[in-house]
Amino acid sequence: MSQNSVIRLSNGVEMPCMAIGTNWMGYAELRKILAAGFRAGFRAIDTARDYGNEPVVGRALCDAMSEIGLERRDVFVTTKIGNGQQRTGNILREIDTSLENLRLDYVDLWLMHWPYPGYFENTWRKMEAVYSQGKVRAIGVANYDIRHFEQLLSGEPEIVPMVNQMEYHPLRTAKPLVSYMRDHEIRIQAYAPLCRLVPPLRESVVLKSLAMKYHKSVGQVILRWHIQQGDAMPVFKSYNPDRFRENIDIFDFALSDEEMAAVDALDQDYKYHIESVNCPGY
Ligand SMILES: NC(=O)c1ccc[n+]([C@@H]2O[C@H](COP(=O)([O-])OP(=O)(O)OC[C@H]3O[C@@H](n4cnc5c(N)ncnc54)[C@H](OP(=O)(O)O)[C@@H]3O)[C@@H](O)[C@H]2O)c1
Repeated sequence: MSQNSVIRLSNGVEMPCMAIGTNWMGYAELRKILAAGFRAGFRAIDTARDYGNEPVVGRALCDAMSEIGLERRDVFVTTKIGNGQQRTGNILREIDTSLENLRLDYVDLWLMHWPYPGYFENTWRKMEAVYSQGKVRAIGVANYDIRHFEQLLSGEPEIVPMVNQMEYHPLRTAKPLVSYMRDHEIRIQAYAPLCRLVPPLRESVVLKSLAMKYHKSVGQVILRWHIQQGDAMPVFKSYNPDRFRENIDIFDFALSDEEMAAVDALDQDYKYHIESVNCPGY
């Protein structure tokens, strides 16, 4: 396993094992962190229409790629379709808006941001149509729980979502959901992978002793726990360019099975991010 490791999705598309988050950032910040991230070795970014900055992400991406000398094929770009666009329903046009915003002619992964009740099954059918047009290399969902997958799959869609981007970290290991996803070849994209290092993680004796043992930070131990699972891809955010070197420097040590289990045991079924008002109890 190396910093160039990829996870193979169910359609064969290879996705980098870690990604850079971009939400709520302006151009100057994005330009700085994307260049720092690419220089450190990251090759994937995550954005969404509902972050309100897709056009700015597009400009910063274009500028950072040319600064570092990257081609389009070198970078894996994910964006998402939001609840507002699900409500209006013109999903086939929405992808063109995202492509225009991002200055791209395809995105690598297009996600449904929320299982918006009353809309998500129809949205998925249209996302399948967009996939068949070749404008997106893979399609998936975010914030789905088992009941949403069961409802979606009971309609026998042509494509099973390839990824679920979900809150996932040692305080929320969501075992039944993850087990369901593994049974259906749905990969985990882990958002809030560090759970903002809230005190139960920052002060954890288990994590601190692993950090000391391997001469790493607590953040690096958590990121290692993610990627060592083989199908969990953390997407983290940072305003600090130095973090990118730190967060990719996790390929020169390995946690033992017992250590992985000890990190798993920190689970408290805790979520940092509040749920969408449109998807109560997701
Ligand atoms: N699909 C969804 O509904 C959804 C929801 C939420 C988030 N997301 C995605 O997930 C991404 C990340 O989520 P997030 O921002 O909530 O969580 P996060 O990445 O777990 O936490 C971000 C915080 O962690 C700090 N950090 C990063 N690396 C660190 C390290 N090695 N040690 C200590 N602190 C570190 C950063 O601080 P510094 O700035 O000081 O480095 C930042 O304050 C977002 O950007 C977005 O792309 C998706």
